[in-house]
Amino acid sequence: MKSLIFATNNKHKLEEVSHILHDKYKLISLSELGYTDDIPETEPTLEGNASLKAWHIYNKYNSDCFADDTGLEVDALNGAPGVYSARYAGETHDFDLNTSKLLENLKGETNRQARFRTVVSLIINGKEYRFEGILEGRIINEKRGIHGFGYDPVFIPDGYAQTIAELPPDLKNKISHRALAMQKMADFLKV
Ligand code: IMP
Repeated sequence: MKSLIFATNNKHKLEEVSHILHDKYKLISLSELGYTDDIPETEPTLEGNASLKAWHIYNKYNSDCFADDTGLEVDALNGAPGVYSARYAGETHDFDLNTSKLLENLKGETNRQARFRTVVSLIINGKEYRFEGILEGRIINEKRGIHGFGYDPVFIPDGYAQTIAELPPDLKNKISHRALAMQKMADFLKV
């Protein structure tokens, strides 16, 4: 079985992506490599950060790898919080505070259109490939539901009546921005 480093320590993401790759690749997480430092996320775009993280790990371990970066882009906020989604309300990366700040900034706003966007950067033999997944939807006025994480309680995907936090987690894993981007990578890897 081939192996591929996934530049993350998020167990949920590892499981989700292993599944999408049909367990044909052995995914190696950063903690399995003993890598405990923060990977730099200093670029102003999702593309830049995914690429930066992937090259950082590729150059350190000289081994094929991929990294992802995700943001919530809200039209009425000119694409914010975007690349700053994790730290929208500060460096504590608190999901609940981030979501409250978003609702506050959208108070009275009628245009609620938004999307989650994931960018995956894959490096194979020193060549970079990029994949994107988008989930369109809208931001509601209050938090609803208990599943998922991040902005899930305020985001209703197009074609649904419930927030992602109210929908079954299995469904999220099929329709999500991250799943779509990873599926494109899986198609590329022909797994
Ligand atoms: P990351 O790049 O996957 O770490 O995502 C950055 C931030 O975007 C997270 O801290 C969350 O606030 C938000 N985010 C990413 N994916 C999701 C999701 O599937 N649902 C809700 N929020 C998400």
